[in-house]
Amino acid sequence: MRHLLDTESLSRDNAIQILDTAQEMSAVGEREVKKLPALRGRTVVNLFFEDSTRTRISFEAAAKRLSADVINFSAKGSSVSKGESLKDTAQTLEAMSADAVVIRHWASGAPARLATSGWIDAAVINAGDGTHAHPTQALLDAFTMRAHWSQLAGTPSVGGDLAGMRVVIAGDVLHSRVARSNVWLLRTLGAHVTLVAPPTLLPVGVGHWPCEVSYDLDATLDAGVDAIMMLRVQAERMDASFFPSTREYARRWGFDDARLARLDELKLKDTIIMHPGPMNRGLEISSSAADSARSTVLPQVRNGVSVRMAALYLLLSGEMREQATPAPSNAKDNS
Ligand code: CP
Repeated sequence: MRHLLDTESLSRDNAIQILDTAQEMSAVGEREVKKLPALRGRTVVNLFFEDSTRTRISFEAAAKRLSADVINFSAKGSSVSKGESLKDTAQTLEAMSADAVVIRHWASGAPARLATSGWIDAAVINAGDGTHAHPTQALLDAFTMRAHWSQLAGTPSVGGDLAGMRVVIAGDVLHSRVARSNVWLLRTLGAHVTLVAPPTLLPVGVGHWPCEVSYDLDATLDAGVDAIMMLRVQAERMDASFFPSTREYARRWGFDDARLARLDELKLKDTIIMHPGPMNRGLEISSSAADSARSTVLPQVRNGVSVRMAALYLLLSGEMREQATPAPSNAKDNS
């Protein structure tokens, strides 16, 4: 496997390999000197056409912890604003001998185009493209869940999956590449996923995704849940009104204080609350929930560095295993 473009085509074997390697990498973050020589002399380019805080910084930290040289490129302030194309930008980076290109782009499919165009020879890692995919976010989410799940089960994380775990992903699914990548990866790892959203914020074709779909957050919580992932309302991608008011959205679809208390009433003491960030506090998640002992928001950020170290290391060292057989299609057969 040369590129990391999505989770739909990621085999269980490759997913577990990345998570296990990330487990080893996490030990580096605990050391006084947080550095390994593994990618010395290699060049990683962070190519960001869309804003980012967590992903961009953690890819930079990951590459530096592996001793790679890092070039940060953001479309703002570059010749992209003068109309330079993705091809010309990519070939400029190729001329600088990039070994890996980490790309975030507003257009779904831009990373795949870069990987298959022949414009560059570098490994391509998708850091989020349009509403399509955000594979390293899903992997860091799975890493966070696996640590929690294995601790509950009293089993080692390494080699383990998420079989039997009940995960609810709630909110603006329509615009969420995080939701898409999580649904596919969680299914591959054996979790049971339920998407919860207003009908207006569910994509066409969601019935073919390998998960359940519900419009009722409270009923879904009452049925039992091990991890709740709240999604950001992506106002910047909305060109229409998708819900009556922010107040109504928070009441029906937000993880508010009442729902936080409900977890205690349901005696779901081990249920975790996740959010990929950035958060709209008071809209899809209350501050009490985001800052509660159940919240994994900050561990998710921390785990992002380990997962991105693993992805960079495996792709650039050539140690990422080839997929022995094509990844099985996880899609429901609704024919
Ligand atoms: N979760 C995530 O992708 O955050 P950023 O947009 O800050 O990178």
